[in-house]
Amino acid sequence: MTKQWNPEDWRKAVARQMPTYPDAAALAQAEKTLANFPPLVFAGEARALEVDLARVAAGEAFLLQGGDCAESFAEFHPNNIRDTFRVLLQMAVVLTFASKLPVVKVGRMAGQFAKPRSADTETVGDVTLPAYRGDNVNDIAFTPEGRAPDPQRMVQAYNQSAATLNLLRAFSGGGYANLHQVHAWTLDFMGRSPWSKQYADIAARIGEALDFMAACGISPESVPQLQATSFYTSHEALLLPYEQALTRQDSLTGQWVDTSAHMLWIGDRTRFAGSAHVEFLRGVLNPLGMKCGPSLEPEALLRLLDTLNPARTPGRITLITRYGHDKIEGGMPALVRAVKAEDHPVVWSCDPMHGNVVKAANGYKTRPFERILAEVRGFFAVCRAEGVHGGGIHIEMTGQNVTECTGGAVAVSEQNLADRYHTHCDPRLNAAQSLELAFLLADMLNREMQQRRSGAGAAKVA
Ligand code: PEP
Ligand code: CO
Repeated sequence: MTKQWNPEDWRKAVARQMPTYPDAAALAQAEKTLANFPPLVFAGEARALEVDLARVAAGEAFLLQGGDCAESFAEFHPNNIRDTFRVLLQMAVVLTFASKLPVVKVGRMAGQFAKPRSADTETVGDVTLPAYRGDNVNDIAFTPEGRAPDPQRMVQAYNQSAATLNLLRAFSGGGYANLHQVHAWTLDFMGRSPWSKQYADIAARIGEALDFMAACGISPESVPQLQATSFYTSHEALLLPYEQALTRQDSLTGQWVDTSAHMLWIGDRTRFAGSAHVEFLRGVLNPLGMKCGPSLEPEALLRLLDTLNPARTPGRITLITRYGHDKIEGGMPALVRAVKAEDHPVVWSCDPMHGNVVKAANGYKTRPFERILAEVRGFFAVCRAEGVHGGGIHIEMTGQNVTECTGGAVAVSEQNLADRYHTHCDPRLNAAQSLELAFLLADMLNREMQQRRSGAGAAKVA
């Protein structure tokens, strides 16, 4: 049995990375407003995601999780939502084809607003102000008014999340996700892009498979599943007053569910023993992600898993590694061995973004595409060597043609970074880089699956 749990218990634990609101009454008012708003997701949907993720943990599916580093009020536009959703679908088609596994699609969307920061304050010249913590906390503008935490921002974030989720639900179920259409976009995009030659073969084979299916009478008209897809939402559960206000008791089972998103994750900076974030998340039924970086010791990880998943339910926990291209192969094996030895059923997913940030000569924070790719390769190498399924990828990306990460076949150089650098926090892969990553990843997955089928070095999956 789990220890007693109440949605407000986190308030007695150590809460890092949270703003100090200057006006307690205004905070209480905003929390009350949110607590009366309708849930964004329903408990049954969170359970369905857990079932999907259990298949990933068992080596029978792959997880694709991606979206903005930080959603913002300024970039809120239907075209941005549409384009990010579209690229995620395109990536999923490529990955499904390569691995012959279903791909579970989870957006960093419709709620990804709060950011952990390395320092509480930022200094420019001789002015020091609170750090920007995401649009649901304060404004990115470096002014005293902008940086003051404002609880009404949580209400605006809720409204933006509700509208975003509404559009995502319409796209997923209303015909926009039609498999033939998604592939046609990829072909069209590749036709216009210089890097397409390398991937033309995979794209042509996907086209042939679709034509063959159509000839057999399997078309979006005859099989409605080809017109629709499941798409889930996720964000870092960082701003606990917001998360608590949206946490409700499931009327069917009495269990608690955080209705702000289907899946929630705990960041690398808030997963320490005794953390308020761990205390909060252990009590909700949503599938949970946890970032695992170089500072996480195997023993600490096992204790966290015991707290967050005492019943060892498959699909409950996704471990998201974020070591850096040069540390993944040194650091990750010890975690995998410890988790296997204690039989904790987890999804292993690779975040190749957060350990690979560098500062360009012109001062821009960037991530070289080749390091991102190197970390993904390292991750798969570890999974292969340790006999676990490389189950997923977690990326910061957008459907827009931004210039935030350097490299890729349509090479973004350090000099180009200033052209279209729009992120509110970390640099994202643009549409071309995301799709390119999917093709390269497809190759790795394909090899994993072939190896498994031939029995040589077969991944013994938990
Ligand atoms: C993030 O995913 O945006 C993030 C801050 O990651 P991490 O906790 O791994 O640093
Ligand atoms: Co980030």
